[in-house]
Order: sequence, then C-alpha cells, then structure tokens
Amino acid sequence: MKKAIGLIGATTAAAILAASAVAGPDDNNLVIEGEAMVSETAAPEGSPFDTIYSGWRFRSPETQVLETDDFENPGMVAVEYGYELWDTAAGSSGKSCADCHGAVEESMSGLRAGLPKWDEAAGKPLSLEHLINRSIKEHQGADGWKWESAEMLATTALIGLQSRGMPMDVETDGPMADWYERGKELYYARVGQLDMACANCHEDNWGNMIRADHLSQGQINGFPTYRLKWQGLGSIHRRFKGCMKQIRATPYKPGGDEFTALELYVASRGEGLSVETPAVRQ
Ligand code: HEC
Ligand code: HEC
Repeated sequence: MKKAIGLIGATTAAAILAASAVAGPDDNNLVIEGEAMVSETAAPEGSPFDTIYSGWRFRSPETQVLETDDFENPGMVAVEYGYELWDTAAGSSGKSCADCHGAVEESMSGLRAGLPKWDEAAGKPLSLEHLINRSIKEHQGADGWKWESAEMLATTALIGLQSRGMPMDVETDGPMADWYERGKELYYARVGQLDMACANCHEDNWGNMIRADHLSQGQINGFPTYRLKWQGLGSIHRRFKGCMKQIRATPYKPGGDEFTALELYVASRGEGLSVETPAVRQ
C-alpha cells in the first residue's frame, strides 16, 4: 500500500511527510458491544478513493480495544453526564430535553448519521451543536452552550451514540450543493506556512507515517471522539482546528460557515462508514 508523496512541494512539508515505515490500514474488524461496524467499504460516488476506511483501522491495538467495549471506552463517562443533562430542567420553559423530546434513544435515533443537514429557517446547513443550541435558546429558553464545553460534548456524544452502527449519509444536492462545493474547495486549498491542504495528508499520504502518527483518511464518523492526547472528548471542528495548526495555518472559527461546509464535505467522503460515536483515538 505504498503511496507516492507526489504533490508536496514545500521542503518543510516534504520533511514532515518523509515516510518512514509504510503500512495501510490493518485487517481488524470493529465490533462494539457485539455489534459489527462497517469500518471499510466501497467509496461513495465522486470519491477519490476506491475503498474508504474508518480512522479506527489505523490505530494501535491498545487504542482500538478501548472502543470495542463501553466499559473500557473513556468517552462513555461523558455520555453518562449527557443523560443527566437530558433530564435536567432549565431555562424559562422550566423543561428538560426529555420533557419535550422524550426518550433520547427514540427521538434522536439516526440524527447524527445525516449531519450537517439543510435548515430552511437558518438558510444554511446546521451541525449538531447548532441544532442543540437553537433548541436550548428558542424552545427551552436558556443560554446556549459553548461549542467545546463539557455540556455540549456530553450531549453531542449522547445524541451521536443513538446513531451508532448506522451508515453516514448526508444530503449534498439541492441547496446543499453550494456548501458541498465550498467545503471541497477548502479541503483542497493549500494554507498556512507549510502551504498544505487537507488532501496532501489525508488523500495523498494516508497509510503513511507522519512523525509518530499513522495517517488515516481523516474521516469524521466517530465524533465527538475521545482522544487520549486530549484526555477528553473533542468536536469535529476542534479536530479540524488542530490539523490546521499542524500546518501553521490560522484555523477557522468552530461553528462558523467554513468549518460547517468542510464538515459537510468530509462527511460525504465517509458515506457508508458506520457512525462510531464516541470513538477513541490516540
Ligand atoms: C500535515 C498533515 C495533515 C494535514 C494537512 C491535515 N491533517 Fe488531519 N490529521 C493528521 C494526523 C497526523 C491525524 C491523526 C492520525 C489520523 O487519524 O490520520 C489527523 C487526523 C484527522 C482527523 C481525525 C480522524 C479520526 O479518525 O478521528 C480528521 C477528521 C482530520 N484529520 C481532518 C483534517 C482536515 C479536514 C484537514 C484540513 C483542514 C486536515 N485534517 C489536515 C494530519 C493532517
Ligand atoms: C420546550 C421544549 C423543548 C426543550 C426543553 C428542548 N427542545 Fe429540542 N426541540 C424542540 C422543538 C420544538 C424542536 C424542533 C422540532 C424539529 O424541528 O425537529 C427541537 C429540536 C431539537 C433538535 C433538532 C432535531 C432534529 O431532528 O433536527 C435537537 C438536536 C434538540 N432539539 C436537542 C435538544 C436538547 C439537547 C435539549 C435539552 C438541552 C432540548 N432540545 C430541549 C423543543 C424542545
């Protein structure tokens, strides 16, 4: 599975990507709590790949095993907190999420797999964090949560878990087409001091080692994801931000239009992979 480091022009970038041991994804099957996940599948239409893989397939066995068992998965602590929040009354309505939405297992089943999705009222696609904050502000009558707050991460993990095992499947046509194109442009745009694009790593060099890291295709089917490095959960937009910082680019704003468009495009590249929320990564 050797990949040529073709498109990298800048010397620094080439130095960073100087491939050491080269290895593709492993052959392990991801089974969570007895349920088989799709961690490898034929690439969706328009994809630059033949086969797409979950980031789980590039992790070490020690990290992989943490995701297979909910008692071992450190992200589940946040899910527990999410359940607490779901039942907590707040705001001028004096209601909890559960008072209006009922059981999260039913009302939020499938939502994560199709995000971001077009919202007529907003006139743009919305991510899970946007939908939650709008509901809190407009229906519950409370202040929204910060994008990367413990409350938001616990709730996105809880809601995402209700789609675990379902295939990623986002809308990309109709009013979403412009946003898809914008996300695609951002994915291929070289930025930062290293003058690199997302594609230079996750498309041209996946399977290779970058410093001590085994590069994946940069899929987002596991978010919010528990990262051992973060010692906690992080959002999709936090991950994007971190990757932009690695190439010394000024990251876009979490929750802003650029990252929402990028999220849509990256989600579309992962169509068919199972939602793994909350995934565990290095
Ligand atoms: C210099 C190389 C590099 C660039 C450029 C880069 N990334 Fe990454 N990215 C990494 C590395 C290394 C990791 C951690 C290993 C892995 O999962 O690939 C990572 C991880 C990720 C993950 C997490 C995958 C998972 O399974 O949890 C996502 C999503 C991601 N990147 C998206 C992006 C996006 C979007 C861009 C462009 C804004 C980008 N990356 C640019 C190196 C890069
Ligand atoms: C007073 C009632 C009320 C409360 C309290 C409430 N919501 Fe909502 N929520 C709604 C209504 C009404 C909608 C819009 C229905 C729709 O368009 O699907 C909605 C929509 C949503 C959506 C989008 C669902 C979708 O399918 O697009 C999410 C996610 C959500 N709420 C999460 C929450 C969370 C999390 C809480 C608690 C922190 C909460 N809501 C509290 C009434 C409420």
